[in-house]
Amino acid sequence: MSRVTTLFTTLTVALLAPYLAQAQAPDAALIERGAYIATAGDCAACHRTKQSGGPAYAGGYVIASPLGDIVAPNITPSHKAGIGGWSFEDFDRSMRRGVRPDGARLYPAMPYTNYQGISEDDMRALYAFFTNGVKPVDTIAPTTDLPFPFNIRAMMIPWNWMFRSDKPFRPTPALSPAAQRGQYLVETLAHCGSCHTPRNILMAEKNSQAFTGGDVGGWRAPNITSDPVSGIGGWSDQQLVAYFRNGHVAGKGVAAGGMGEAVEHSLRSLSDPDLSAMVAYMRTVAPVRDSADTRAAFGFTQVRPVSLTAYENSDTRDQNAVAGSATIDGARLYAGACASCHGLNGNGSKDGFYPPLVGSSATGSNNPNNLVMTVLTGVDRRGSDGHAFMPAFANDMNDAQVAAVANRVLTQFGNSAVQVDAAQVATLRAGGGKPLLLKLVPWIIGLLGLVLVGLVTVFMKRRFWKS
Ligand code: HEC
Ligand code: HEC
Ligand code: HEC
Repeated sequence: MSRVTTLFTTLTVALLAPYLAQAQAPDAALIERGAYIATAGDCAACHRTKQSGGPAYAGGYVIASPLGDIVAPNITPSHKAGIGGWSFEDFDRSMRRGVRPDGARLYPAMPYTNYQGISEDDMRALYAFFTNGVKPVDTIAPTTDLPFPFNIRAMMIPWNWMFRSDKPFRPTPALSPAAQRGQYLVETLAHCGSCHTPRNILMAEKNSQAFTGGDVGGWRAPNITSDPVSGIGGWSDQQLVAYFRNGHVAGKGVAAGGMGEAVEHSLRSLSDPDLSAMVAYMRTVAPVRDSADTRAAFGFTQVRPVSLTAYENSDTRDQNAVAGSATIDGARLYAGACASCHGLNGNGSKDGFYPPLVGSSATGSNNPNNLVMTVLTGVDRRGSDGHAFMPAFANDMNDAQVAAVANRVLTQFGNSAVQVDAAQVATLRAGGGKPLLLKLVPWIIGLLGLVLVGLVTVFMKRRFWKS
């Protein structure tokens, strides 16, 4: 009798299992927590549509990597186009190890080396959100097609073996609980190091130089160690929190480029305790000084008066007249294209909406990239206190003109020891300098070819002697 009952129960459970699983759909609180974790992980900055305003997490957005364009896939729960049907284990494996359910390796443009340390609880909440809290979108994002040899995804197997750690995240024991929380956010979910840490020749983060500054698509993610000169030691806690919330701090700097995206899609929506925790952790990162720096990037506050008499020409105040002209007179370009917002003296507008270019990290840095990139791409960033918008000048100015106006800004308002030329602007316009790895590719392919020819020759000779 008892056997029959057991059999009956087993059968019922087996038959009902799929329905029970559905009934066990995660509760609203877990999904909501997952949504917050997705925000902290900044998933939306990459997994968005190509044109802004498309459905959330539908993918298609193109990430310009030094190896070529990488398309962010659709990660909505669509069975046709997204990750619908993925088990928790499938999801977890792609998030931590960069391996898709079909075994294909992901490129580290998806920051799985950082996400590897996400806690089990947070990963489950994230999964609950992406399977039950996101609207499925059936549009398949275009596939990524990198040039040979980078199209061989299996190349990531040895890369992972060399550079991906399997260790779970462990906070530094000596830190306060707040700083430990900050360390968790900064090193895993918020993946700050993916931009702010320099990369080695194989493009893995150099952990020994964490947060000392990195290059991302033409932009310079500055040194954010606690050093008061080269890093952020001179920023107050409130200023750092305000920068994360709003994307700008008077007398310090502006968040444009990838940092503007991090503010818009992630940081501005995080809780006050979490932002303060990140700051508490950043304070504990050992200071690293660049010997070329003599003062902080925001420390170029001296005003060098501009002589107005030279700019009383009628055309210099007319933005269109200058934008359409071929002049490479930086002062005229500045007066025509920039002064209407930033002021002829570079002091910005009184309310700070148009920021001063005097005493700003982009104009005082020993690296002019962010100044040039801002002129090329403009600023389009939503922070907690509003929408900052500066037009892009990439189409209105040629490389020589951008260099001229940047040099005018550097000389007049910023670090006059730094100058740029048209060739540098051309490189930044094309997405930044090519990493050594890419320059070596033809050599590596050539070398492999030689080895192959050598092997074939030896093989043929052996057969010849044998016969
Ligand atoms: C810096 C950009 C970036 C961020 C941030 C990012 N991803 Fe990705 N993700 C990518 C790219 C690019 C790929 C595809 C890589 C490839 O083609 O190898 C990818 C792939 C994936 C995949 C595999 C999908 C598939 O169909 O192969 C999943 C799942 C995923 N991401 C989830 C997430 C989640 C969840 C977050 C936030 C916690 C996140 N990603 C944040 C860029 C990003
Ligand atoms: C997608 C790349 C990217 C990510 C991710 C990123 N940053 Fe940035 N960050 C930048 C860039 C680029 C700048 C320079 C922005 C500018 O000048 O317009 C910057 C600027 C900053 C600054 C201002 C520094 C200065 O001297 O002006 C701070 C502070 C900062 N980031 C902290 C962080 C922290 C903390 C995180 C993680 C929560 C983070 N960033 C994540 C790219 C990034
Ligand atoms: C229509 C107004 C407008 C014009 C014209 C304009 N800007 Fe801006 N600029 C802005 C705004 C708005 C911001 C961002 C403010 C913020 O983030 O709150 C900004 C930010 C900047 C920054 C700081 C960026 C950073 O990454 O830290 C620099 C440098 C800059 N502008 C230079 C220029 C130069 C040079 C020109 C002329 C070629 C110019 N701007 C023209 C409005 C303007």
